[in-house]
Amino acid sequence: MKILIVNGPNLNLLGKREPEIYGNETLSDIELWLSKKSEAKNHEILWFQSNHEGEIIDKIHGAIDIFDGIIINPGAFTHYSYAIRDAISAVNIPTVEVHLSDIKSREDFRKVSVTKDVCVKQISGKGIDVYLEGVHFLNNLPTL
Ligand code: DQA
Repeated sequence: MKILIVNGPNLNLLGKREPEIYGNETLSDIELWLSKKSEAKNHEILWFQSNHEGEIIDKIHGAIDIFDGIIINPGAFTHYSYAIRDAISAVNIPTVEVHLSDIKSREDFRKVSVTKDVCVKQISGKGIDVYLEGVHFLNNLPTL
């Protein structure tokens, strides 16, 4: 299976950014950690990060006919980007939304996800394990 992992704004600062909330691992650390997991080894995984909404949308569009599944941490776009929501819906590729922190137990604005309903699953609040759980979930989808 080919899986695209998309990370949105400010996630390039992981490791430095509020480590008490998001942990000490950088995005590269997470990528390396995931690549060593046996479940991930069965898949071709491409990581992408951008701070720009349009670039994220272009990447999602570019996944058509190439990727079998998408894992996305839209960062703050989760809470207000109808454009990213529409892109996920448009490409019709099973997409798992992930969050390192538990968005339901934080500020009120984080409790709302406008992207969740077009995703096959939302996984939140388990730190870096959310990426592995995302792979596991896609791996077990009956249609893939
Ligand atoms: C996040 C949660 C979002 O609310 C926040 O804006 C992020 C990271 C998470 O992984 O916990 O940038 O998506």
